[in-house]
Amino acid sequence: SPRVLSGIQPTADSFHLGNYLGAVRQYVALQEGHDAFYCVVDLHAITVDYQPEALRRRSRIAAAQLFAVGLDPERSTVFVQSHVREHTELAWVLMCLTGMGEAGRMTQFKDKSAKYGESSAGVGLFTYPILQAADILLYGADKVPVGADQKQHLELTRDLAQRFNHRFGETFTLPEPYIVKGVEKITDLQEPTAKMSKSSSSPAGILDLLEQPGPLRKKVMRAVTDTGTEIAFDEENKPGIANLLRILSALTATPIPDLETRYAGQGYGTFKKDVAEAVVETFTPIRERTEKLLADEDELDKLLAAGAARARAVAAETMAKVRDRAGFLPAP
Ligand code: TYM
Repeated sequence: SPRVLSGIQPTADSFHLGNYLGAVRQYVALQEGHDAFYCVVDLHAITVDYQPEALRRRSRIAAAQLFAVGLDPERSTVFVQSHVREHTELAWVLMCLTGMGEAGRMTQFKDKSAKYGESSAGVGLFTYPILQAADILLYGADKVPVGADQKQHLELTRDLAQRFNHRFGETFTLPEPYIVKGVEKITDLQEPTAKMSKSSSSPAGILDLLEQPGPLRKKVMRAVTDTGTEIAFDEENKPGIANLLRILSALTATPIPDLETRYAGQGYGTFKKDVAEAVVETFTPIRERTEKLLADEDELDKLLAAGAARARAVAAETMAKVRDRAGFLPAP
């Protein structure tokens, strides 16, 4: 069956609504009928400032959330990136095939490095997308479920796969991004034209999967809208309402035009209350399951060890081919 791979960074104490709708929910759907690999990308998380203890905690929280949303350890291979050494090994080979200019054009790098100042941003931030390409190519992924912000990294991945294949012989599958329309960019509740983001959203702008119902409701009720009264999908003039419509539509599997009809003449209050309830109803069972999984660290670590073993087997096979084709001597 076709292969799926995706990765998510343990850079916060919870995933947020954008991660959930844009990516994680698709992980669960795609474990049906696919050979699925999902990776907590701790090596990517150290490309920005971090604390070792926080990273360890967040890696377990991320893994627990992946199981809590419904990834089945029998069907999906859920693992931690640093447990599989081949990721960094392949990344090196791919780095040697990447142009400086090519890497410098990545918009995520430009955004993130701007925050640190061009020269003090780490080199790891620059090579981040190449490590991501290695994650994907090691497993021969056909599909990669991601949000819209990852499109450019997927293009680079395809370019690098093609370049390697061309120079050294058919080795890598060219992956397709799997981006679901309507949820590919969930925006910040306080700044509804900007992406909801772990690194740049204010606490009031972001809805965390592990947050309590009280704060979740409060944030939705205080979401920035326009001064009108009509519930209509108008991205240009009503970005706040458009975002809430997309969220409610995705959470309740109701087409946006149906929602526009349902809320015609009702004002923003009732609508926002329903959005808040849909968020709370979705998040609460996930939070409870995550807490349960985190209460037994040994069991969680066992699941991750089993995932790592399965991932390693696939990664080692790919890497053996790469080593041979790239001209390395057989390892003694
Ligand atoms: P990360 O951890 O930043 O984000 C995880 C996933 O969530 C998606 N996402 C969103 N989708 C819709 N609306 C939003 N506001 C929103 N915010 C985030 C992201 O697109 C992503 O799919 N580079 C990746 C991590 C990665 C990876 C990989 C992904 C490393 N290796 C291999 C796929 C395959 C990232 O930034 O994840």
